[in-house]
Amino acid sequence: MTIKKVCVVGSGTMGSGIAQVSAQAGYETTMVDVKQELLDRGMNMIKSSLGKFVQKEKIKQEDMSKTLTRLHTSIDMRNAAKDADYVIEAVFERAEVKLPIFGQLEEICPKETILASNTSGIPVSLLASATRRPDKVIGTHFMNPVPLMKGVEIVKTLLTSEQTLKVSLDFVKSLGKETVVVKDSPGFVTNRIITLVMNEAAKLLEENLASIEDIDKIEKLSHNWPMGPFELADMVGIDVLVDLLEGVYQQTGWERYKPAPILKRMVELGYTGRKVGKGFYQVFGQG
Ligand SMILES: NC(=O)c1ccc[n+]([C@@H]2O[C@H](COP(=O)([O-])OP(=O)(O)OC[C@H]3O[C@@H](n4cnc5c(N)ncnc54)[C@H](O)[C@@H]3O)[C@@H](O)[C@H]2O)c1
Repeated sequence: MTIKKVCVVGSGTMGSGIAQVSAQAGYETTMVDVKQELLDRGMNMIKSSLGKFVQKEKIKQEDMSKTLTRLHTSIDMRNAAKDADYVIEAVFERAEVKLPIFGQLEEICPKETILASNTSGIPVSLLASATRRPDKVIGTHFMNPVPLMKGVEIVKTLLTSEQTLKVSLDFVKSLGKETVVVKDSPGFVTNRIITLVMNEAAKLLEENLASIEDIDKIEKLSHNWPMGPFELADMVGIDVLVDLLEGVYQQTGWERYKPAPILKRMVELGYTGRKVGKGFYQVFGQG
């Protein structure tokens, strides 16, 4: 199977990043969202990211222009997905939002189209259950920020076919990424680990053990991490983090995944991190 057209559903932090690397790799790529202004925001994120690559001389201005000509936007999923070879869903981390999209894609897409999800922890099998092609449903869990992070977890369900797996591995590798195949289990590998780190940091803050700057500082200096847990949470999105933790907690009942109350309070107040310019550093820090 040759992939030419890619459709990315959702133009937020991840969708725009995935659409960017897809277009950079030469695929005709259409991003879908529910409002044009959200698509415009996604395109602006892409332009700014590509602009930084040009500035740092990682790509040429000409590469940026060519990439942009391969990128399209649409608020009409039918138009965007009707002839797509590969679809990647990257909408909110809520099963009730993702399931109808998989149901619609089943109706819209040609029968050979592979339907991938960028979910961070919702069972890919559950998403596959909304389709009549569970063998062609797979998880492609890109990391944030997509243009910079090399690793992608490829989530294979009990029914994902070897062919879907192979095409997906080749496709993701063609985007310049490295892959690891994991079982369809709550939080996969990456989010079983990293969400606990951020949740624990939030609990330390609740206990007044240290300031957010100091917690980030000591973690960076002690483990050579490029970011501290609060910087990471602000980048991932506090709402996304809460959804991730809740997702694993609800599926497993493991107490350690219960979101620290402070995270929930921040989401209620709209302090969801860098994407809205308000996160841990604005509530508790100097930023
Ligand atoms: N943010 C991260 O660090 C990160 C990392 C890895 C995976 N993920 C996963 O990627 C997915 C997207 O996360 P994000 O951070 O980009 O979220 P986001 O909130 O930045 O973007 C989600 C986008 O989906 C759009 N959307 C919602 N319903 C839609 C619909 N019916 N049709 C089309 N578009 C719709 C929203 O308008 C929004 O623009 C989630 O499953 C998340 O768990 C996120």
